[in-house]
Amino acid sequence: MKPIHILNGPNLNLLGTREPQIYGHQTLADIKAMCEAAAQALDTSIVFEQSNHEGVLVDLIQRAGNEASAIVLNAAAYTHTSVAIHDAIKAVSVPTVEVHLSQPAARDAFREKSFIAPVAAGSISGFGAFSYVLGIEAAARLARSGADANKNKGS
Ligand code: DQA
Repeated sequence: MKPIHILNGPNLNLLGTREPQIYGHQTLADIKAMCEAAAQALDTSIVFEQSNHEGVLVDLIQRAGNEASAIVLNAAAYTHTSVAIHDAIKAVSVPTVEVHLSQPAARDAFREKSFIAPVAAGSISGFGAFSYVLGIEAAARLARSGADANKNKGS
């Protein structure tokens, strides 16, 4: 099985010190270590990336389209703004699981809209770093079942 690519958007490099009352005290390195352990337990592996730049995230999604079995994506603030990332997910033939540490729907009104959800296989949010573990489990199941990656990409 190809690795699961775990892609992280803007400001997630600051986890640990960034609004810990919302995002917790774990750093992105801590989350990466959790993801590696979760993947190992599922007999798979991960590639873990973070960028603050929208176009770089588009490049990483395109790369995952060739090199990954599935994508776990926390697009962070670009979740709520990015047509480019929406289109990139639609353009690749691997399933994407949307994850968030917090529960965006329970926060500011502008976080209610996700440009990722309509093209993701599913979304997991609100469980802190554990959202990533659940996301990896979902991604591995999707990859192994040969699920139709384009199932939700019709519109
Ligand atoms: C986030 C939620 C987004 O609304 C926010 O912009 C982030 C992090 C999360 O993981 O909870 O940067 O994606």
